[in-house]
Amino acid sequence: MQGFTPVDPGYFVPNRFAGQVVLVTGGSKGIGGATSLRAAREGAKVVICDIDETAGRSCVDQIVAEGGSAIFCRVDVTKREDTKMMIARAVEVYGRLDVAINNAGVMDGGGSNVPAPLHLATEGYLRNTIEVNVFGTMNSCADELTYFVEKGEGGVIVNVGSVTALTGNPGTPAYVASKHAVSGLTRAIAIDYAPYGIRCNSVNMATTQTPMFDRALAVVMEKRASAPEDSNMVRKGLKSVGLIERNSTPWEQASTILFAASRDASNITGALIASDGGWTAF
Ligand SMILES: NC(=O)c1ccc[n+]([C@@H]2O[C@H](COP(=O)([O-])OP(=O)(O)OC[C@H]3O[C@@H](n4cnc5c(N)ncnc54)[C@H](O)[C@@H]3O)[C@@H](O)[C@H]2O)c1
Repeated sequence: MQGFTPVDPGYFVPNRFAGQVVLVTGGSKGIGGATSLRAAREGAKVVICDIDETAGRSCVDQIVAEGGSAIFCRVDVTKREDTKMMIARAVEVYGRLDVAINNAGVMDGGGSNVPAPLHLATEGYLRNTIEVNVFGTMNSCADELTYFVEKGEGGVIVNVGSVTALTGNPGTPAYVASKHAVSGLTRAIAIDYAPYGIRCNSVNMATTQTPMFDRALAVVMEKRASAPEDSNMVRKGLKSVGLIERNSTPWEQASTILFAASRDASNITGALIASDGGWTAF
C-alpha cells in the first residue's frame, strides 16, 4: 500500500552512508533519535549531540547493540564552545565529518514559559525559543562550515525547520519567528557556500509524534482549562483542514532528512523541503 502509509520504522537503505560520519544535534530522541538510529543502520558513524545525556547514551547503546557505531557528546547548542567541541570530538574519534544535521530545537522556555500570543508571552518563552532555535542552529552551522571549508572536500548540512518556517501558526510567535530564521539561514548558507561544494537544505515537518508533541499537547490542554480566553484566541487561528488525518512519525521525518543528507539529493541546495503531509499546500 503506497500513498500516506508511513514508512516502516525498520526500513533503511543499506550502506547509503557507509564510510561517512554523520552528526545529529538533538539526536538523542524524537526526530533526531530516529535519524541517528537510521543513519547508523545505513552505515554512518554517528555523533549524537544533545543536552539529554541519559537518552543520548541509551541511543548510542541501541546503535552499538545493532552492530553500528556511535558516540555521545553532551552539547548545549546555545553555547559556542559546545558546538566547537562537537566538531572536534567527531574528528578526534572518527577522523572526519561528512554530514551535519541540525535538529536540536525547543517549542518553549520550559516550566511556565509556555507559548502564548505575543502580548501575553513571557520573556523566558521568547528568549529561550530564539536562543536555542536561532542561535543554536547558527552556532552549529558556523562551526560545521569552518570545518568543511578548511577541509576543502565539500559537505552537507540539513537544518530541521518546521511548517512554521514556511507559514504562520497561532499562539507560538517566537517559535514561528525562530523557524522562519532557520529558513533564511538555510538559503543564505546555500548561496555563500556552494562555491565550496557545500549543500544546505532544511526539512520542514508538521505535527510529528515525539516528546515535543506530547509537551505541546499537555500545554494546550492546560491552557484550555486555566485560560479559556487566551485559548479561544489561539483556537480561531487553528487550521481546520488537513490532507492526512494523523500526525507524522519520527521515522517519516528521518527518511526525508536522510534523503536530503544523501548523495540522492546531490542537485538540491537552498531548498526548504516540506515533509508536512500537505500542511502547506493550502
Ligand atoms: N514534533 C513536532 O511536531 C515538530 C514539528 C515541527 C518541527 N519540529 C522540529 O523538529 C526538531 C526535533 O523536534 P522533536 O519533536 O524531535 O523534539 P524533542 O523535544 O522530542 O527532541 C528534541 C531534542 O533536542 C534536544 N535539545 C533541546 N535543546 C537543546 C540544546 N540547547 N542543545 C542540544 N540539544 C537540545 C532535546 O534534549 C531533545 O533530545 C526540532 O527542531 C523541532 O522544532 C518538530
